[in-house]
Order: sequence, then structure tokens, then C-alpha cells
Amino acid sequence: MKYPKEYLDEIKTRLKVSSVVSKVVALKKRGKEFVGLSPFKNEKTPSFTVNDEKEFYHCFATSEHGNIFDFVMKTQNLRFGEAVKYLANIAGMQPYLFTKQDEEREKSWKEYLSIYSKYVDYYHDQLLKNEKLSNARDYLKNRSLSKNEVKKFKIGFVEKNPSFFDELKKKFGEKTLLESGLFYFDEKKKKCVERFKGRLIFPINNISGQPIALGGRIIENLDYLAKYINSPETNFFKKGSNLYNLDLARKLSNKLDHIFLVEGYMDVVGLSKNGVENVVANLGTSLTDKQILTLNQFFDDIIICFDGDESGYKAALRAAENSIKDLKPEKQISFLFLPDKEDPDSFVNKNGKNYFLDFTKQNKLPIHQFIFSHYKKQTENNPSSMAIFEKKLRSIANTIKDNFIKKYVLEFFLDKIAELTPHFNQNKNKFSVKKTRSLESTKKLYNESKGITAVELKEFSLLYLFLNNLSLFQSNIHLVENIKLFSDINKQIFSSAINKLKSNETIDIEKLNIDKQLLDKINKFAPIKHILKNKPKNDSQVMELLDDISKDLFNHDLELRIRELESRFSEDLSETTFNQLKELKNERKIN
Ligand code: CTP
Ligand code: MN
Repeated sequence: MKYPKEYLDEIKTRLKVSSVVSKVVALKKRGKEFVGLSPFKNEKTPSFTVNDEKEFYHCFATSEHGNIFDFVMKTQNLRFGEAVKYLANIAGMQPYLFTKQDEEREKSWKEYLSIYSKYVDYYHDQLLKNEKLSNARDYLKNRSLSKNEVKKFKIGFVEKNPSFFDELKKKFGEKTLLESGLFYFDEKKKKCVERFKGRLIFPINNISGQPIALGGRIIENLDYLAKYINSPETNFFKKGSNLYNLDLARKLSNKLDHIFLVEGYMDVVGLSKNGVENVVANLGTSLTDKQILTLNQFFDDIIICFDGDESGYKAALRAAENSIKDLKPEKQISFLFLPDKEDPDSFVNKNGKNYFLDFTKQNKLPIHQFIFSHYKKQTENNPSSMAIFEKKLRSIANTIKDNFIKKYVLEFFLDKIAELTPHFNQNKNKFSVKKTRSLESTKKLYNESKGITAVELKEFSLLYLFLNNLSLFQSNIHLVENIKLFSDINKQIFSSAINKLKSNETIDIEKLNIDKQLLDKINKFAPIKHILKNKPKNDSQVMELLDDISKDLFNHDLELRIRELESRFSEDLSETTFNQLKELKNERKIN
């Protein structure tokens, strides 16, 4: 949903950047600006500045900058919409209500929250105080849970013959109550029944800490009942979108960069009790892309620690194959396997926090290593099995969306395979980093030739490489056709050359009809020619050079787009623009 510009402008006019920032950072006035210690970095000399006139803050230490919405989002880990609500409130404005439909949804959302919070409070209280529920308290004691954990997680117990439905009916309609998923209509008894009766209940909270669903565990071993049940999906609860304990764990993200992801409620509670509080659970379903993305918003490093049994291992493998495609350079996903028959809860209770953390350090496997070793275990030393192995790994690497990660994961896989097959690879000739350096120094040299910008020089290198390897690129046209150039004339000859190459006839440089003067200029100034002159070139070297150049051009384009979006955002303040900007900045961090 998009907030109208007037509404956002109104917030911005009512709130100076310095007044928002100074809630978190002590500011001193210096000229037109304010300065203070960066909230994004530990520092002794202030490098964080605020300019009320320009409505921006800027941190010279980390290059973070933005407006009040950015600031609140970054320092409080909020989403755009949440930041708007928070700031509107400070500005003394009403929260923005969207259309009629939104208004109705908002109303039933409030009712839903209210039902859940009353329900959770009531049964939590019962568990703590009701004399008759000593069996539930004994159960918790046997699992060595104290009042602290019961309170921290607001665990409750629903009696065998509960009566809270009637209480709630005084305030809410039957339909609304049924829609909450806490009750269902029993056709035989012709009445509404509590879904969680006779169970310990674990509230599942949204990111702001409000309960929106429950998990419920039986406390007696009864074969005919499922050990755990969860709230059904409702208008406001979707399983794959939520994580148990995210609301509490995310608050640790300013201190810790990693988060444990486990299978069960009791694993979260058990770890937390032992002092490992940066832990969430995925509610007994397979891990979704959305859950990984959410965790990555707060933590750079996700450690997936499922049970040490076969089903835990299978779930981990599924999670690995699914989440590797979204792997980002600055993020890590790794896997921790516990000894057989242990789950995180039992393991940490037996061994304590320090042992658990040491064990993690020594045993966690980065996602690509886990995948490699899993498939290697299934491979025998014969051509057919090895071929299947390599194919599988290549196809997994190919699902990775980020091109850099894809490249290095593939390289990791192929290197490991090469270690297994030493005879194939004796002549493996790797392109070394040195060459990139010489590219830098020649660039410097030619930067001195007046009138030609650094980007143009890059383009000359690209064209030089391209024109001298036409047939190679004709059969690999996909590698070049999307490269973006910036100077009009270079752009024009490049795209017309590509079109001709696509025609499938044999093309030589004559057929491209390139302006003689330009060709001379390329031949004279392209920094790359000094590399190609001295070294015997082969196709893979050419490809590596192409990769370097296209990366540089891509980064140049990225900078331009960021600048453009920044100025657009300061105009329109739209969430879409903001998100685009955020994506681009993330990309910049990677490159
Ligand atoms: N689960 C579920 N439905 C089941 C069994 C399990 O939804 N019938 C989910 C629950 O979220 C549970 C998680 O899967 O917390 C892990 O299940 P399991 O390993 O069987 O339970 P534990 O977490 O070990 O719980 P406990 O220690 O209480 O037995
Ligand atoms: Mn368990």
C-alpha cells in the first residue's frame, strides 16, 4: 500500500531530522549542521552529520544516509510502513487509513489481535495460578522449565473443559471467534469447541510481539492425539511467513550477527533457557524463501540446526537446496548437525551453552559444503556415478540468482571434483589476479590522455576485446548482449555489431563498417591491449577479461541508477522507490 505524498510530507514537515535522530544520538550543533557519534559504528570521533534543511542525515564512517524514515527503519529494524506509523504518532498525527476495504480489514485485524491477546493472557494466567492445573506445571518441571521461561514465552495451558469461549462471546461475534482458528464448530455436539483443550500453548507472535497463532502440545502420551497442533491458517496468519520467537530474537540483531533456526517450540525455549536467545523455529513446515529473507533482514548469518535424526537431516537438505538460490554475498547460511537422537533442546540441556556454542563453531557447515558432501557421499568412483554427481552440483549452482555467488559456488564444486579426479586437471591453468592489477595501472596511464573519461576507456577495452574475438562472442552472444555502454557512439557501434553477429553469418571486422577514426582511437587507447599483446590469449582468458570489464561497467551503471533514485526518493517518498533504492544499495555492497 502506498502512502499519499501529502501524508508523508506532513510528517516530514512536522518532524525535523535532528529531533528524530537526537532520540538516539547526542547531537551538537556545528554551523548549519549537527554532528554526533555514528549509531551505525563504534567510533570515538563524530562522523555522523544531520542537515535539517536538506532533510537528510549522512554518516561519513559507513556512508549510510537517508531521511527520517530511513533512520527509524535502520536504527529500530522497522519496515517502511511501521516507520511511517511510528513517526506519524510522534508527529501527533492519526495513523493513515487506507480505503474502505482496508478500513474493514484493519477493524477485523484489531479484533483478531484482541481475541488472541485475551486468550493468551487468560490461559497463561491459569497455568501460573490455577490450583487444578498442577499436572501441567509438573510436566513443565519435569522438562526443567521454570517460571522464567513460562513467563518469557507466555506459555499457557488450556483446561480439559474450558469455558473461555463464553467469556469471549460477550464481546465478539461467533463468526469472528471461529475465524480466529482458536475454536471450531463440532457438528456432533452442535457447539463451538476449543481447538487447544488439554494442551500447553505456545503463542506465536508477529514481529511486533503480538500473538497471532498458537502451537499446542499434549502433556500426556496419547497415541490417538497429535503431539503438536498449530492454529490453522487464517486471514492474518500464514505459516510460511512467520517464525516462532522472531519478535524477541530480532532485538538481539544489533549485538549478534547470527541466528539459530530450529524445528520446534521446545528447542527455542530450551536454548533460550540456557542463554542462547538468538533462536527462532519454523513451525514444523518446510523452510520458505520468505522466512530466509526475513531472517536476513536482521541477521547476516543463519545457522540451521534441525534434529539429529533422519527426518531432521532430510529437512535440512531440502532447506539447503531451496535456500541456496537466494544466497547473497554478504549473507551466510550454514548447517549444524547434532549427534543422533538429539535435538537442540536435549543437546543444550545436557551440555550447556558454552559447549553448544563451541560445538557450533567447530561443526557448522556452510551451505555449499553441506550440499557437496551430501552428494559426494552418494557417489561411487566410476564414470557414470561421477557424471551424475557433477551434473547435479552444476544444476544446483545454476539455480543461484546472484551471479557472483553462482560463480564461486560453481568454482568450489568444480575444484572439489577436480581434487577427486586429479588426472583430468594437471594442466588446469588459472587466470591470476595479477592481470587485473595491470589493468588498473594501464587505466591510470591512459586516464592521463585528456578528454577520455574512465568509463569511455572501459568501453574501449570492451570493444577492443570484442572486435578481436568476434567469432568467440558470436557463439557466446548471451555474454555480451546485455552489457550496457554509456557513450552514444560506442553504444551505437556495439549494438549494431551485436545485431550483425546474431544473424549467424560469418562476420569479420570489415563487415561491421566501423568508423575508421573511432577504430583508430580504440586501438590506440584501449588499456586492455597491453595485456593481450604480451600474453598468448586463449578463450578462457578473454572471458575473464570480459567479466572484469563488464563488472566495472555494471557498477558504473549501478551508481548512476542509485543517484537517480535518491533524488527521486527525496521527491516522491514512495515505498516502491525506497525498496528499489534499498535493493540497489544492497547490490552495491556486494560488488
Ligand atoms: N510439529 C507439528 N506437528 C506434529 C509434530 C511436530 O507441528 N505432529 C512441529 C512442532 O512445531 C514441533 C516441531 O515440529 O515443535 C518439532 O517436532 P518434534 O521434534 O517432534 O518435537 P520437539 O520440538 O522435540 O518437541 P518435544 O521436545 O516437546 O517433544
Ligand atoms: Mn524435543
